[in-house]
Amino acid sequence: MENIIKNELEAQRQLNIINELKERFEKEYQKTGIRKTFHIVTFGCQMNSRDSEKISGILKQIGYVPTDTEDADFVLYNTCTVRENANNRVYGRLGHLYTLKKQRPDMLIALCGCMMQENTTVEKIKKSYNFVDIIFGTHNIFKLAELIKTRLDNEKTGGDHSDHMVIDLWNDTDMIVENLPNDRKYPFKAGVNIIYGCNNFCSYCIVPYVRGRERSRNPQDIIDEIKALAQDGVIEVMLLGQNVNSYGKTLNPPTSFAKLLQEVEKIDGIQRIRFMTSHPKDLSQELIDVLGSSKKICKHLHLPLQSGSSRLLKIMNRKYTKEDYLDLVERIRKAVPDIALTTDIIVGFPGETEEDFLETLDVVKKVQYSNAYTFLYSKRTGTPAANMDNQVPAEVAKERFDRLVEEIHKSVQNNSKRYENTVQEVLVEEVNEHDSSLLTGRLSSNMLVHFPGDKSLIGKIIPVYLKESRGFYFIGSQL
Ligand code: SAH
Ligand code: SF4
Ligand code: F3S
Repeated sequence: MENIIKNELEAQRQLNIINELKERFEKEYQKTGIRKTFHIVTFGCQMNSRDSEKISGILKQIGYVPTDTEDADFVLYNTCTVRENANNRVYGRLGHLYTLKKQRPDMLIALCGCMMQENTTVEKIKKSYNFVDIIFGTHNIFKLAELIKTRLDNEKTGGDHSDHMVIDLWNDTDMIVENLPNDRKYPFKAGVNIIYGCNNFCSYCIVPYVRGRERSRNPQDIIDEIKALAQDGVIEVMLLGQNVNSYGKTLNPPTSFAKLLQEVEKIDGIQRIRFMTSHPKDLSQELIDVLGSSKKICKHLHLPLQSGSSRLLKIMNRKYTKEDYLDLVERIRKAVPDIALTTDIIVGFPGETEEDFLETLDVVKKVQYSNAYTFLYSKRTGTPAANMDNQVPAEVAKERFDRLVEEIHKSVQNNSKRYENTVQEVLVEEVNEHDSSLLTGRLSSNMLVHFPGDKSLIGKIIPVYLKESRGFYFIGSQL
């Protein structure tokens, strides 16, 4: 209770600051006739995409208008640090931003997201990229207006640039501050956070360190949010969390993800329900039963395998074996025979032998995934795996990676062939990026189809004939 009051007071305090800045920006606009622009670059997963919508909501409320390029008054990078190459991309782009900033000295640059939760990153930015104006992390996005205000007020007091940098980073939080402005990317589908953080500490993974401990949102808050979305025209929701299957365990009274799904199912207007991500160790029989009986949950489950070797899975701290995983897949397929399974796999985890890798290939052959995201192991400082002394040489990992991708392609092709010459319900999402005479829609199985059609169909669920499978997508036609 105490926490709920604390969160609501904080939300109110932030709304006051947003309004104060809004007045300030409006006065400037009256003088100049020019609105200030902003641009957000989002790296990483859907958690970050959802956070960027919150950031965008706050900025629009203050009076900033969105723009498509980084030539803007305010540029924000919402960063990811799950693998080393995600970090490198940020540093590369920052160099380019510096050139832009030299041409427009009033430009503000903010960095936020998972990379900022690492001390070494922040030290590096203070030292080598001191033109950055604001740094914040994953736990205090709701404070953005306050940080902008602090930065603008600093400006007035003078001093050299490095004194101006506003840095606000929290190691962890028990706060969930809601009901702040929000800007959805699509009018007809929306992501909804249900659980923040992660407690699993898979030995290779940085996420628990940068996203903090698991915090489940109150079920009523989630239901209220989805009802409001449905009222607003949303027909598909994606429930988000690093491990949705542990939703509700720490709430008082405790509840479960399966129960939450049943409540979401009852909401009028919502036609499709998706969720990401399911940890195999916590996927209950109760949830499988709900998947089997639901009319709205999409026929797609993302079930990260990481490795098919029980020996490696133990060292990865995944808490399931190859056999547990295969048994789970069998039970899921029995309940929902036409479900599309997708996965994440890491190649080259420390100590991975050819035998371990063959176990992974074996699972891929047996499960026949509809899609799989494959990653070369990337050493993350601070995780247990980073200190393991048997790191796999890059060329060995690369060779296995290529073999894995080849095997996955085969199952992707086989799976999509099965849908050829069938009619499927498709949520039409957008005009095709490359060919504006085509629309792009998504099947319940999460696969994409491109077909000729009018953009008035965007946001509707319609039947589409799948003429030809091209592996990861289909070419279709309207009926
Ligand atoms: N919470 C999700 C995954 C989030 S990270 C889950 O547990 O399934 C997304 C994917 O990145 C992971 O599934 C894993 O395959 C990959 N990944 C995480 N850390 C990695 C690392 N250090 N190197 C390579 N891939 C990694
Ligand atoms: Fe990382 Fe494991 Fe948590 Fe997923 S469950 S975010 S892989 S620690
Ligand atoms: Fe990356 Fe953070 Fe997501 S590290 S994968 S953006 S939780």
